[in-house]
Amino acid sequence: MSGHGAPIPMTSSKCGALKGMAEVPGDKSISHRSLILGALAVGETRIFGLLEGDDVLDTARAMRAFGVEVTDHGGGEWSVNGVGVGGFAEPDQVIDCGNSGTGVRLIMGAMATSPITATFTGDASLNSRPMARITDPIVLFGAQSFGRKGGRLPMTIVGAVDPLPVSYTVPMPSAQVKSAVLLAGLNAPGKTVVIEREATRDHTERMLAGFGAEIEIENTDEGRVIRLTGQPELKPQTITVPRDPSSAAFPVCAALITEGSDVLVPNIGLNPTRAGLFTTLIEMGANLSFENERSEGGEPVADLRARFSPDMKGVEVPPARAASMIDEYPVLSVVAAFARGDTIMRGVRELRVKESDRIEAMATGLRANGVEVEDGPDWWIVTGKGPGHVPGGATCASHLDHRIAMSFMILGMGSEKPVSIDDGSPITTSFPVFESLMAGLGAQIRRSNP
Ligand code: S3P
Repeated sequence: MSGHGAPIPMTSSKCGALKGMAEVPGDKSISHRSLILGALAVGETRIFGLLEGDDVLDTARAMRAFGVEVTDHGGGEWSVNGVGVGGFAEPDQVIDCGNSGTGVRLIMGAMATSPITATFTGDASLNSRPMARITDPIVLFGAQSFGRKGGRLPMTIVGAVDPLPVSYTVPMPSAQVKSAVLLAGLNAPGKTVVIEREATRDHTERMLAGFGAEIEIENTDEGRVIRLTGQPELKPQTITVPRDPSSAAFPVCAALITEGSDVLVPNIGLNPTRAGLFTTLIEMGANLSFENERSEGGEPVADLRARFSPDMKGVEVPPARAASMIDEYPVLSVVAAFARGDTIMRGVRELRVKESDRIEAMATGLRANGVEVEDGPDWWIVTGKGPGHVPGGATCASHLDHRIAMSFMILGMGSEKPVSIDDGSPITTSFPVFESLMAGLGAQIRRSNP
């Protein structure tokens, strides 16, 4: 169980050029899926480069609670001895998914079509997030859910005894919901069909195909139609997890706003359903280049080089790009503060139901640091102050949200006065080596007294 113990206040101060290699950890989305799909295969899946952040460690613990042997061999190498589709045992303890929406939502889907009961909980952030988006489709398979008011955790799921396949149109752009329905569909006989109006990250589909499931994808006028044949025997895999583009975003954006910087992030995943931030930064005038583009384990990867970019300008980010950079808007808003002109972000309602309300959290902190921000239900606009002209000087609340905490630490690197956060402890959920990696590049982040 990941807990948020004592808060860890942190302060980030203006630094000189950031230089060197940023070996960011493994992809969080692919790490969760490697453990869960490995658990549902028959035999031993080996995983190299698993993200050992709290979110993924909570998923590993959850898989053990469902009767799956999960072994940490050290150095990012893990193995999962899968029990097969439908082979989960009933956990005898409450499953604590900590801070992880991806973990709890995917696992609820994966167990919903097995005749077992499980109770899920999380930290204060996770227990305030909406779960009806998962319980609505899983009841169609025959599962039942009993949660708190508003469909919140803690919540008990009673898995279906005789699951039925379903056809489900995902009402919001969400890879977690799509994936939960597909994972539930694995143990339903016949074809489960999921339709998404806007494409979201497709790691589940790619990995299901890799594990030997029969899965077809068709792009139609209604959207992306995914058809999965239930009750396959999944074959164990050897998986090398690419480095997380969402974590790479932090050293990359730091380099863009810090004079003289030149940072290389090797081996990052560049799946097009995840790479929207880099497209946006290039449109803004960022000095980014991709080297060594190649494919590894069914995912496109490359080495990404980022250099100081003093001439960035604000852009309008099209809503159609939102899903491919949904986790990167907080750090984009920081880069926008150092660009010239307005950066307009629309079609981003989902940001309000992440680990925190990310529009509110960033807008409040940016304003406190002297940056003008306007916001509405599903849009926000950051007015850039230009390079070197962000005042800084304020302490921001991280709201149990790793990406908010890291974004404000990046803000401090280019601001006139240091920027602080009340609590950097959530950073370990996705980027446990953030402080040491950034320090190695030349950043000045220190733990401060509360
Ligand atoms: C994720 C999907 C996204 C993203 C999250 C990881 C996934 O959430 O924000 O960090 O691995 O499927 P939504 O599905 O809620 O958009």
